[in-house]
Amino acid sequence: MRVLMCRPDYYTVDYEINPWMHVREKPDQALATVQWQALHDTFTGLGIDVELIEPVKGLPDMVFTANGGLVSGNRFILSLFRHEERQGEAAYFEAWANRSGFETVRLSGDFFFEGEGDVLRLPFVTSSVGETLVAGYRYRSEIRSHNQISELLGVRVVSIELASEHFYHLDTCFCPLNEKAALYYPGAFDDYGKKVLSNIFESLIAIGEQDAKSFCANAVVRGKDVVMNPCSAALKEQLKALGFNTHEVELSEFIKAGGSAKCLVLKLD
Ligand code: ARG
Repeated sequence: MRVLMCRPDYYTVDYEINPWMHVREKPDQALATVQWQALHDTFTGLGIDVELIEPVKGLPDMVFTANGGLVSGNRFILSLFRHEERQGEAAYFEAWANRSGFETVRLSGDFFFEGEGDVLRLPFVTSSVGETLVAGYRYRSEIRSHNQISELLGVRVVSIELASEHFYHLDTCFCPLNEKAALYYPGAFDDYGKKVLSNIFESLIAIGEQDAKSFCANAVVRGKDVVMNPCSAALKEQLKALGFNTHEVELSEFIKAGGSAKCLVLKLD
């Protein structure tokens, strides 16, 4: 597994584009750096290769590389950020992808699309039309971007409407674990969304409000390892019963911008 991360050198909260962000509650820069490094080292300790994109002054949310695009094979689908505050990041992710040998692809039309933050792959779920991706829309990505992704990649895209502005990207409230199980926060979906998820997964593990606010669904899963911000003992027990090892990394300073472990990485393969 190979991922892309961005050092938090210019990370701060200078604007408010989601309900977690408050310009008067700035993250502690030194602590954020320590937390980011701990996350980075947890990944490398698990044998995950971490590539880095140079941070850019004035683009504080660039640390959340999950929104930089969506990678499939050699293709890097570029994002179109909804908020002006993040739009400047796109050119840097594009340049990085080109330099790194990816074929960059721009979606046609002007549909907002925030990359892997809103699109989760289920490589283990097969359908007659190939791999399945679950994609969220409403607060950031637009549903019209989903069709294009489906056509471009030749995959089935299951679209789900997000229903709570606190959980504005799909990866803040939903985390596939394996072919049978996924974590999700029920408060982030409407009844139809929950039905769609339950059609895909035999076992949907509902996390509580406290775990949701601790961004426990914003986890990185690699085989039996789950890397996440600290969660409740009950959730850890549930994961353990399913055979997963949890690796907790305190990411309080990033939650101040509405992101955590999974938002801080972009999967490159
Ligand atoms: N402050 C960032 C934003 O609002 C956080 C992004 C979190 N990323 C994610 N994949 N959930 O865009």
